[in-house]
Amino acid sequence: MSLVKPSERTPLAYQIGRESIDEVVYDFYDRIQNHPTLSKPFSIVTHWKEHKEKIAEFWWVVLGGIPNSPYKYDPVNKHFAAGFTQELLEDWKALFFEVLSQHLPLNLAQAWQSRVELIGGNLLMQNDRLIQKILK
Ligand code: HEM
Repeated sequence: MSLVKPSERTPLAYQIGRESIDEVVYDFYDRIQNHPTLSKPFSIVTHWKEHKEKIAEFWWVVLGGIPNSPYKYDPVNKHFAAGFTQELLEDWKALFFEVLSQHLPLNLAQAWQSRVELIGGNLLMQNDRLIQKILK
């Protein structure tokens, strides 16, 4: 068995390709706008084109791509303001994996979804911390 050093592995962003990342993100947010539970919190988004572009760039960088745009993110406060909950996160993850599975081979879909799990868990923890802080 030949081992590939982490520094020599092709980042997931390049294995998937920017075009496919854009397609996944655009399809996902098109479906969100008609989703039974997710459409409501997402009704605060008014500029969908900008939102999709920003999130596509977010994933490109999270998956190891070299940044193209200098976006600033404030995800914890923005998700708190949008009414983020564990239930909504479960729905979000299920829809995301459905979209991933329709666009990508299973190994790439699973690899991307494992990043979703990490970030989702982190968002939930930080959202809970923010709630505890406010309740104090
Ligand atoms: C793993 C799951 C999720 C990831 C990776 C994710 C990622 C992101 C990112 C990167 C942004 C941009 C934040 C910024 O501009 O600073 C965003 C915005 C947003 N997210 Fe999520 N999100 C997730 C789950 C959810 C869930 C469950 C909800 C439901 C409440 C949600 C609702 C929103 C809304 C409404 C915005 C737009 C906020 C605004 O522009 O004011 N997200 N998300």
